Amino acid sequence: MDEPLPEALERVLFTAAAIRERVAELGRQICIDYAPPARELTVVAVLNGSILFLADLIRQLPLPLRVDFVGASSYGSGTASAGAVTLTRGIHLDLAGRDVLLIDDILDTGLTLHALGREIARAHPGSLRTCVLLDKPARRRVPIQADYVGFTIPDTFVVGYGLDYQERYRNLPYIAVLRPPAGAAGPITLPPAPA
Ligand code: PRP
Repeated sequence: MDEPLPEALERVLFTAAAIRERVAELGRQICIDYAPPARELTVVAVLNGSILFLADLIRQLPLPLRVDFVGASSYGSGTASAGAVTLTRGIHLDLAGRDVLLIDDILDTGLTLHALGREIARAHPGSLRTCVLLDKPARRRVPIQADYVGFTIPDTFVVGYGLDYQERYRNLPYIAVLRPPAGAAGPITLPPAPA
């Protein structure tokens, strides 16, 4: 990497090239799984973090497909999940009988994908699979796994390639580890999981 890292970042976890290569692999796998006889895929991307991943992934999918967005928020403005998922934008496309691929940048506690999976199931899709660029299994609070995972990562707070810290760093072409905030004594503690 030629340019120095911003001061707030500790190290690069995945370079732009590594991400590009892995996204291409995911695209190839998805194409195999949804191969002809052509079914039209309905890709639903979770705002806001998945925008870069979505843009790159769908260009690796030479399949008939539609794209829609769903808004969900769980983190607030810090690094610890608030525990509740708020739907901030509903899905506009009809999903009944459709092959739906739900895309997110990161699977962390699992609360977001779990909540959105339930929301989509209410629309009676023909099938539903999930695809995340990053999986952080150490923080899982609900038992959920994605069907397609780009990279499994340790329990560190990462930014870049769509992922933010207080709405910054989404535009970085790589994924980097954020330096722990000054004064942070240890791992971020979470409130109890919802019933
Ligand atoms: C982040 C991320 C995922 C979700 C994952 O979204 O983009 O959607 O949290 O966390 P979970 O598995 O613990 O639910 P966030 O609410 O920060 O919004 P953003 O995408 O706009 O940054």
